[in-house]
Amino acid sequence: MDKKELKKKYNFYINNIKKYNLSYFNNNKSLVTDAAYDELKKKILNLEKKYDFLNSKNSPSKSVGHKPSKNFKKFSHKVPMLSLSNAFSEEDLINFEKKICNYLSIKNQLDMEYSAEPKIDGISASLIYKKGKFLKGLSRGDGKEGEDITDNIATIKDIPKYIESDDFPEEIDIRGEVFIQNSDFNILSEKFANPRNAASGSLRQKNPKETEKIPLKFIAYTFGYERGLLVNNQFDFLKKLNEWGFITNPLNKLISGVKNLIKNYNEIEKKRSNLDFDIDGIVYKINDFAIQKRLGNVANAPRWAIAHKFSSNKAISKILDIEIQIGRTGALTPVAKIKPINIGGVVVSNATLHNEDEINRKDIRVGDIAVIERAGDVIPHIISVDTSKRLNTSKKFIFPKKCPSCGSDTIKEFNKVTKKIDAVRRCSSQDYFCDKISIEKLKHFVSKEAFNIDGFGKRIVENFWELKLIKFPQDIFKLNYEKIEKLEGWGKLSVQNLKYSINQKRNISLERLIYSLGIRHIGLENAKLLSKHYISFSKFKNISTKSDYDDLVNIDGIGESQVNSIKNFFSNKENIRVLNELEKVLVIKDTIQNSDDGILNNKTFLVTGKLSGISRAEIKSLIEENSGKTISSVSKKLDFLIIGEKPTKRKVDYAKELKIKIIDQSEFLKMLNKTS
Ligand code: IVH
Repeated sequence: MDKKELKKKYNFYINNIKKYNLSYFNNNKSLVTDAAYDELKKKILNLEKKYDFLNSKNSPSKSVGHKPSKNFKKFSHKVPMLSLSNAFSEEDLINFEKKICNYLSIKNQLDMEYSAEPKIDGISASLIYKKGKFLKGLSRGDGKEGEDITDNIATIKDIPKYIESDDFPEEIDIRGEVFIQNSDFNILSEKFANPRNAASGSLRQKNPKETEKIPLKFIAYTFGYERGLLVNNQFDFLKKLNEWGFITNPLNKLISGVKNLIKNYNEIEKKRSNLDFDIDGIVYKINDFAIQKRLGNVANAPRWAIAHKFSSNKAISKILDIEIQIGRTGALTPVAKIKPINIGGVVVSNATLHNEDEINRKDIRVGDIAVIERAGDVIPHIISVDTSKRLNTSKKFIFPKKCPSCGSDTIKEFNKVTKKIDAVRRCSSQDYFCDKISIEKLKHFVSKEAFNIDGFGKRIVENFWELKLIKFPQDIFKLNYEKIEKLEGWGKLSVQNLKYSINQKRNISLERLIYSLGIRHIGLENAKLLSKHYISFSKFKNISTKSDYDDLVNIDGIGESQVNSIKNFFSNKENIRVLNELEKVLVIKDTIQNSDDGILNNKTFLVTGKLSGISRAEIKSLIEENSGKTISSVSKKLDFLIIGEKPTKRKVDYAKELKIKIIDQSEFLKMLNKTS
């Protein structure tokens, strides 16, 4: 990347962080999760570390948060309220300790002693005491200048207003976190997305009488300016805080060495979901004040402390409703509609509840406060609900005994293989009777691995269904294009394109056609086995006799569930009609028996990058049809690397190194005497 591009990227990050800070500090609104924020901050800091010319004054390395809002009077912190650098792994912690030892010129790394304090996710505040009297409460603001929120802070019962202990310093700013316990949050859950927003919003009310109504808590953990403090380490300071009447975190611990920090981190992470307050990591502070002093600060964070963050892919939100979705095979899937919440940078408003048994087991109800997890790309799901936050009016969720779409009975089948009743409840109607099932079948029919009709996505299926343009798969090939052209959003050109894409797919292999039918238990692999066995569509279509079914069991890979499902499929007249109609509008190619005399015999292939107009699955079957093989990684065994758009560089480089032939899509198709 050249300098200009780097600057552009850097400024983009800076502008985003500015936007997030502004919203967070002035409107009490997080636009992203803490994890996403930290990630962005890390990217900026990494760039600055590498390139000296990147040093915006708005960088998080230079400022803490954003200027305070104008609603409250500003007040300077005598000692700045610093931020903390983050650690995400054991490696980060080892580096943190190494840097400390280097700084202190300690040759053989010692196991440092730390105060390990769970990091409550609330709002930090600084409380100024003189001669034991609480004088002023400040928010953090930009770290240098905070807001005078004394009246609101004074409503918090956990905060001592007079301290009479002899050893309480002449003057001190006690710093800590204002937060709301999760169990108190339910009364506010309508107004705020999470306890942290609720605390921030409540603390910054204009009217302290409103703040007083909110059960805010305060946990103390550090100090700013002090005159007359007689302790010399953090853990003793925490003990003193207790003696003076402040609440400290009961999970604070004194720990030596990184290994033990990790052990404690894992233990606390396990307890995390059961705690009554949200924590987003653990703060480690060098215990000895003298060492802290020697280490000092870098920019706006101390060298002697670090926040070890938890991976944040869980969040708490409210279940607004439970909807039942009906799948292609009739399975009723309950889906929780939740109050939208940002989990790891993605706004989540749906979470799967899997099936009826899952709802019963976890006793999930509409109105519940739930822990939702989003892991990778899988659909978010509900881990648990907090029954203690339930209102008296809460009712058990009754799973529908009738299909919400067609009114047929819903049933749970006995699974002959597992010898158990299925967890899934299904609509008992026969194919194409239930509208929802039919729509899902059509979506499957046009999908990527099936007919793969370009530009014919799920939305179009729904739209055309509503307009009664399609009901059965064959209708796709008999569309009334004149009517479509007149629809909103369509024009001559788009209709022409659609017509072209559909016509292109009239030629189809038996294997794809079988898969497209969406027969339960017949996925890609089984469709392939069936197509190899029957070879022609007419043979497949006429499966009907007992001996035909007996014959099916002999196909290696086809089991009892598949046979039953196929029997079921062929026993339905509507399905037979669909097959007959499809035969009229399609050209169904017989299965090419794999022989060793195909053009690609003895040749191996690997695809990298995005191909155009052809899926990976399709290219794989083309290769196999022509006696070639596909393999999954670049090695000496590979003959051809087919590259599409944005190929994986590593694969291309390695292939070059091994002198493997690199070809593009059209060169590959030429090998088969086809053009793209
Ligand atoms: S010490 C100089 N201790 O984390 C050290 N902070 O990103 C800075 N926090 O603004 C503060 N628990 O809101 C400290 N036990 C703890 C903490 C803690 C939560 C928050 C605090 C601070 C932020 C730093």
